Amino acid sequence: MISSRILTAPSILSADFSRMGEEIEKIERSGGDWVHVDVMDGCFVPNLTFGPKMVEDIRKYSTLPFDVHLMTVNPDQLVQRFAEAGADYITFHLEAVIHAHRTVMQIKGMGKKAGISIVPSTPAFMLQELLSELDLVLVMTVNPGFGGQKLIPSCLEKVRYLNQVRQERGHRFLIAVDGGINQLTAPQAIEAGADVLVLGSAFFLSPDPRSEIAAMKGTKFV
Ligand code: DX5
Ligand code: ZN
Repeated sequence: MISSRILTAPSILSADFSRMGEEIEKIERSGGDWVHVDVMDGCFVPNLTFGPKMVEDIRKYSTLPFDVHLMTVNPDQLVQRFAEAGADYITFHLEAVIHAHRTVMQIKGMGKKAGISIVPSTPAFMLQELLSELDLVLVMTVNPGFGGQKLIPSCLEKVRYLNQVRQERGHRFLIAVDGGINQLTAPQAIEAGADVLVLGSAFFLSPDPRSEIAAMKGTKFV
């Protein structure tokens, strides 16, 4: 199966932090489907961003699903607080935990959608035992930490692999790609099997984010 409907998830990492409410409204106004929140702890990745209070405060600016991407060590300690703050999807990194299955169950136990992300150096088959439990697999297509980087093409092979396994075994998880997605790389990611395009700079630095989204969503391989 190749998705017939592509979702876009603008990442507020590239937004103007001094006007976050307006930036969230811009996502909905421009046809974005999810609000992607990059949580960085300065330890798992060399950058710092938001805590649960940010999610709580900006939640009221949009009814779109909030897609929280935890780039942190010890995600288990944060899941409950982000769930209470209004996250809909909570994604953590496979590389950050020992007991990934337990963390997935914790997220689902709070009534939230559970996702796992892998960095470019982690092979996708490492997720094999977890795929039946997941709502989302987020394939990092750059080394996480910063917006505005170039997509690493080999990461799209992982998208292809995950899409194939999903078809063979009838799994229902969505595949998201995160990092370096633009009008050039989006068609490649979609062709490989991605359902969700995370957009940072391509959305927030564009003079016309609405057309940006429309152009990327127009790229369907059905
Ligand atoms: C990177 C983040 C991404 C980032 C993408 O660590 O996880 O969500 O914001 O930004 P662009 O689209 O600019 O690569
Ligand atoms: Zn992200």
